[in-house]
Amino acid sequence: MKTRITELFGIEHPIIQGGMHFVGFAELAAAVSNAGGLGIVTGLTQKTPELLAQEIRRCRELTDKPFGVNLTFLPTVSSPDYPGYIRAIIDGGVKAVETAGNNPQKWLPMLHEAGIKVIHKCTSVRHSLKAQSIGCDAVSVDGFECGGHPGEDDVPNFILLPRAAEELDIPFVASGGMADGRSLVAALALGAEGMNMGTRFIATREAPVHENVKQAIVAASELDTRLVMRPLRNTERVMRNAAVDRLIEKEKQLGVSIRFEDIIDEVAGVYPKIMQQGTMDAGAWSCGMVAGLIHDIPSVKELIDRIMAEAHEIITGRLARFNAG
Ligand SMILES: Cc1cc2nc3c(=O)[nH]c(=O)nc-3n(C[C@H](O)[C@H](O)[C@H](O)COP(=O)(O)O)c2cc1C
Repeated sequence: MKTRITELFGIEHPIIQGGMHFVGFAELAAAVSNAGGLGIVTGLTQKTPELLAQEIRRCRELTDKPFGVNLTFLPTVSSPDYPGYIRAIIDGGVKAVETAGNNPQKWLPMLHEAGIKVIHKCTSVRHSLKAQSIGCDAVSVDGFECGGHPGEDDVPNFILLPRAAEELDIPFVASGGMADGRSLVAALALGAEGMNMGTRFIATREAPVHENVKQAIVAASELDTRLVMRPLRNTERVMRNAAVDRLIEKEKQLGVSIRFEDIIDEVAGVYPKIMQQGTMDAGAWSCGMVAGLIHDIPSVKELIDRIMAEAHEIITGRLARFNAG
């Protein structure tokens, strides 16, 4: 399946694995790239640029296919060493970067000069248009369903994707709620040229996370996520658990006066405890509503092959029949 996204990134299938904190290590990124998609190493999970450089080297040992790095620009005062991370990406010969969070404009010239293609993750049409105007090569359009940060507009992908298609000239992938061949065909029908998946890739054999995390995703339904941190305008979709219930109770009690410090126990530094130790109630961790569509833990290759086979079957079988006259 050829699209502007497969051509832009030199990949076989139009499937991207989004950056995921404490999930997007070399093992997962390489498995996705080896299966013909675009795997993404999560930059900020590596505490220093040197560690990112090492993770990029590790990924390159595991695959000779293209892979990318996610750089999330956080709205924090004490900013990570972004110039150092970008140097590690360029020196590591990486040719694709997924940016997210704040506007990446400042960093685009450096990345483009090194021949790196940039896909910016956006949760609205207006941010997608901004990304296009500053020179991003593609956009990942992240609907309200998504795991992680859906923004504050709450527009689901059935509206957001065709709206993006109406306005954008650069190619975009559908992100949020994507799980299978049906998702891919729907994304293409709505104007996207591929799809980005987060939660679905966690429940794979190669995802280097604790088995409890994978089982929690398989056990969850589409009703089991919650939105937290809305009063802080930093909304995150997370899996419901005891810590999240506590957090939501605090949000109810403190209302608009809530500060980050009030919920620090539920959100700060919880990822290693959950993803590596499998302590599932340790805090709030990102998870999409798509958990309701995830029923197994295949290998990444089985997953991607299945998605592509199902997509082709839908296009040439089920959909073609509607056209049979
Ligand atoms: C556990 C987890 C951690 C994530 N961490 C990041 C991150 O650090 N940076 C980022 O840009 N997106 C992050 N995301 C968002 C994903 O890259 C992707 O956009 C999102 O998961 C898509 O929605 P889906 O989960 O419905 O597929 C994370 C998502 C999950 C589930």
